[in-house]
Amino acid sequence: MKILGIETSCDETAAAVIEDGCKIVSNIVASQIDIHARYGGIVPEVASRQHILTIIPVVDKAMNEANVTWQDIDGIAVTFGPGLAGSLLVGVNFAKAISLARQLPITGVNHLEAHIYANWLEKGQSPTLPCLCLIVSGGHSDLVLMKGHGQFEKLGRTLDDAAGEAFDKAARILGVGYPGGPAIEQTAKTGIPCLPLPRAWLGNSYNFSFSGLKTALWHLVQREKILADPSMIANTAASFQCAVVDVLATKTIKAAKDLSVQQILLSGGVAANKLLTERFLNSSPVPVLVPPPHLCTDNAAMVASCGYYHFQTGKTSSYDLDVMPSLSLG
Ligand code: KG4
Ligand code: ZN
Repeated sequence: MKILGIETSCDETAAAVIEDGCKIVSNIVASQIDIHARYGGIVPEVASRQHILTIIPVVDKAMNEANVTWQDIDGIAVTFGPGLAGSLLVGVNFAKAISLARQLPITGVNHLEAHIYANWLEKGQSPTLPCLCLIVSGGHSDLVLMKGHGQFEKLGRTLDDAAGEAFDKAARILGVGYPGGPAIEQTAKTGIPCLPLPRAWLGNSYNFSFSGLKTALWHLVQREKILADPSMIANTAASFQCAVVDVLATKTIKAAKDLSVQQILLSGGVAANKLLTERFLNSSPVPVLVPPPHLCTDNAAMVASCGYYHFQTGKTSSYDLDVMPSLSLG
């Protein structure tokens, strides 16, 4: 069964063809990073206009690289939330138009659920359910128990900034570039995590909070005149990265022990961070699965994989499918 996935929730226009939920036949991502970099963050209006310009070439490329025609496609999966309303609308309306023209079934996919399914796309990796999922992206930091396909129970979430958002803001404070996650990771390589930065443990809850860390970082940078010394910038980036990783790993591993789950699945852009994955792999008592970095960040392969399981369980959408910018999971 071949599914065409479409993803336009934020600043990546992406399309992919996936076979049987796990085999990547083609996977095209057109990033808008260069366009938004000059503003230091995503400008929603610019993002949606760019999706309009890019969606047709991206879908054409995904179909061509997969060497398929519309007759070979069995269904369309499209992200309908959460995300930027104007951006989501482009993907959803495009998917509905193809569905109508080609008489193909359509299913709306939750972007957060799709991130988890990136774990089904890595060869030789097989998630076993139930499992514990940490989704850490630019807009979300959720800890979710996945009981079965389409069955999720939220255990914790961020009370303020998402982990990726914290990386982006820290990078801006340190002036190391955009997007913040890869920039902080790169800068931290030459630094030592020697500076005191706080961790919000929030008692026994599985929730997260990163805004206090961001404020502490800002005060540290002003007080110690960090920006005047490149080696101090590197030490600050390393200390910040260490603080975020510490909280994410400690809380997730505690939840895995409390709930006696057999596997932890990492996903979302921040899961591309090497320190995070190493920390999990070194300290988790249960196996930890993590997609390769290019499948951690936004892509349509994960949307198509998730859509495949929707179709398997008869979960299709009608033409009144609408965008849900604030959609959550579990
Ligand atoms: O999942 P994603 O591509 O988009 C959203 O759904 O938000 O995540 C993007 C986020 C950004 O905040 C970016 O800075 C962060 O993931 N990110 C990273 C790394 N690569 C991307 N954070 C830490 N380390 C990385 N290597
Ligand atoms: Zn995402």
